[in-house]
Amino acid sequence: MTENMQRVAIVTGGSRGIGRAVAERLAADGQAVVVAYASNQTEADAAVAAISSSGGQSIAVRVDVGDEQAVAALYAAAEERFGGVDVVVNAAGIMLLSPLASLDVDDLDRMYRTNIRGAFLVTREAVRRVRPGGAIINFSTSVTRLSLPTYSAYAASKAAMEALSPIIAKELKGRDITANTVAPGPTATALFLDGKDEETITRMAGMNPMNRLGRPEDIAEVVSFLAGPARWINGQTVFANGGVA
Ligand SMILES: NC(=O)c1ccc[n+]([C@@H]2O[C@H](COP(=O)([O-])OP(=O)(O)OC[C@H]3O[C@@H](n4cnc5c(N)ncnc54)[C@H](OP(=O)(O)O)[C@@H]3O)[C@@H](O)[C@H]2O)c1
Repeated sequence: MTENMQRVAIVTGGSRGIGRAVAERLAADGQAVVVAYASNQTEADAAVAAISSSGGQSIAVRVDVGDEQAVAALYAAAEERFGGVDVVVNAAGIMLLSPLASLDVDDLDRMYRTNIRGAFLVTREAVRRVRPGGAIINFSTSVTRLSLPTYSAYAASKAAMEALSPIIAKELKGRDITANTVAPGPTATALFLDGKDEETITRMAGMNPMNRLGRPEDIAEVVSFLAGPARWINGQTVFANGGVA
């Protein structure tokens, strides 16, 4: 992209949690932001309103990331409204936990539909359309290293992103587009908090030396760096977790 063009970002999962914080942070950085969401229009509209009230530019687009045509329509909407796409942040995701022995294969399919098929469709469209100077950022999880019981299917679905980003970074050779993965640790969003008792939350918050849960803004800080100035970080997985082990 040329110097005087505004950067345009698509943030899937932009209605809530980490994606919401990313959407607001990229808007504060001066990017126009497309907030992509699955069903929660109230939260998506609130994200757009928050960005607008801070002087930023944003639209919300409903999309099931597992739907090929809907993903193409998402990019078309971004290009029609803002003229192109420079940054794609793939934060949409779901997490269903179970020991493998009692894993419901429908849960496995649901996670793989959003976390792998969906992320692949969004990233495939990104490698086709993102402009030179752009950045693609996928989401894994620190559980790929922590190896916590009950996380096998979820962690496997997110580990796919750690495989994908370095390969597309190479496939994008010569286009000046970076592709990286961010792997958060436990972060205070509905995805992490729902269904956990206080004792579990406190114990997991104590797994890192900072002795607290990550905040969505902590992760947005890393994404902002990768989506803007960090041109020499490419094909990497950045573990953003306060030092969890
Ligand atoms: N929170 C953590 O501790 C943690 C740790 C490591 C990695 N992560 C990863 O970070 C990313 C963001 O997680 P989060 O904690 O922010 O989750 P969250 O608060 O539950 O938000 C999930 C977002 O994904 C959207 N979404 C879900 N399924 C979708 C689909 N099929 N199509 C389009 N959008 C869809 C939701 O849209 P609606 O609002 O419309 O439902 C929502 O905006 C995920 O990839 C997650 O795996 C999270």
